[in-house]
Amino acid sequence: MPDKEEVLIQEQQEAISRIAAREDRPLSYYIVTYGCQMNVRDSETLAGMLQNMGMKEAGDRRTADFVLFNTCCVRENAERRALGNVTWLKEIRKENPNLLIAVCGCMIQEPGMAEKIIRQYPFIDLAFGTHNLPRFPMLMEKLLNSRRRVIEVSDQTRMDIYEGQPVVRQSPHEAFITIMYGCNNFCSYCIVPYVRGREVSRESSHIIKEAEELAASGVKDITLLGQNVNSYGLDRPGELRFHELLAFLDSIGIERIRFMTSHPKDISDELIDVMGKAKHVCHALHLPVQHGSNRVLHDMNRRYTREHYLDRVHKLRTAVPDIALSTDIIVGYPGETREEFEETLSLVREVRYASAFTFIYSPRVGTPAARMPKTVSKEEATARIEELIALQKSITAETLQGMVGETHRVLFTEQSRRNSAQFAGKNDYNITVNADADESVIGRILPVRITAAKETTLQGIILE
Ligand code: SAH
Ligand code: SF4
Ligand code: F3S
Repeated sequence: MPDKEEVLIQEQQEAISRIAAREDRPLSYYIVTYGCQMNVRDSETLAGMLQNMGMKEAGDRRTADFVLFNTCCVRENAERRALGNVTWLKEIRKENPNLLIAVCGCMIQEPGMAEKIIRQYPFIDLAFGTHNLPRFPMLMEKLLNSRRRVIEVSDQTRMDIYEGQPVVRQSPHEAFITIMYGCNNFCSYCIVPYVRGREVSRESSHIIKEAEELAASGVKDITLLGQNVNSYGLDRPGELRFHELLAFLDSIGIERIRFMTSHPKDISDELIDVMGKAKHVCHALHLPVQHGSNRVLHDMNRRYTREHYLDRVHKLRTAVPDIALSTDIIVGYPGETREEFEETLSLVREVRYASAFTFIYSPRVGTPAARMPKTVSKEEATARIEELIALQKSITAETLQGMVGETHRVLFTEQSRRNSAQFAGKNDYNITVNADADESVIGRILPVRITAAKETTLQGIILE
């Protein structure tokens, strides 16, 4: 008997074929993606479905027949941006009455959001949650047949995994591979576990097959994705552990492997060991610390201390001396005192990150932190984040300056944005390097001698 997964994939393919057969004129689509890499990868699946339906990507959202917003709700401004843009499209529809507007992703999974859309956003034609993504072709067919709005949000907490869905990847050189979905950590401020559900890992055999196919198609750089990749496989008895999966992928002929995100409480000695020995795992690691004070870390439910974090950093640097670390930091968490904020500054000085993403705390409805009194004013939080950004800027500048004279391997992927005589790509440390070149460098990994450091990028000369 076919299992649930096969039945759905078949239904999906049938809906796609029926849509492809019905339209005499190929419709055009435009996808707007907010949020993290997880959403970027989901949008590649949605694009794959749309193209199999016979649709073509539109160059501009104004001229598209179907516009899909894949949303994020991790902070309030992410949400505001998405809804602002959807509202703007309502105006475009006055000129293009056949335009269909769809919204999906994390924001739709928020409690009460479906009702809000029904009441306040009547011009949204289709809305579906993160768990309903595999049903997108069926929902689309329903919309096209009825021309009436379709809204579907599942409240299941464990997502079903469907292998074999279509995909149109954004780049022929670099690719994301989602290895697990969801998060079990429930950091006090974070909405992700509520909108993405519990951790579910893909079978390692499927991940390995996907990586092998990507390598065979010429992809040079893969990034393994999960909210906490270090707990990969724990929900599947007998499955490989993350460090075992990484060690295996290191042997299959892909040039570069990255992964994100790693939770500091779960970075194991075994993983650090694999990173030290692997030939293709990049010497870059995103290790979000969130805060430098033990009291705040405890309140955030991060389940590690500053000392544990610094110990992990020390072990990583012993095993991989040139590793470039990056991080995420929250300022203005409820109860954060000036002294506690200074502990964040001192930690940043101690670790010397190559780069840091800094955020002002944003209360998210339904999370424990949102029920705590807000004690840091907007002005104070802004002043603190500016101080932190200035510190990180100076450390980034020193780090990049320290790379001048070194030779880095750069995977060239695009023409430089500011100078058309230059081409750009990432080095092993996940830093953008620009160099004089022509189109022939695209898709190749070349040695580049670093000649100068800019604010967040490097300049170099290709040595071949
Ligand atoms: N799973 C990853 C990333 C989650 S979201 C991790 O655990 O690191 C990306 C970042 O957004 C987080 O690392 C955190 O710094 C930030 N973030 C999450 N919720 C937030 C909130 N309510 N306010 C401000 N920043 C937040
Ligand atoms: Fe959010 Fe924490 Fe999970 Fe990251 S680990 S997604 S910050 S709950
Ligand atoms: Fe945003 Fe969802 Fe990612 S809330 S950060 S898009 S998992």
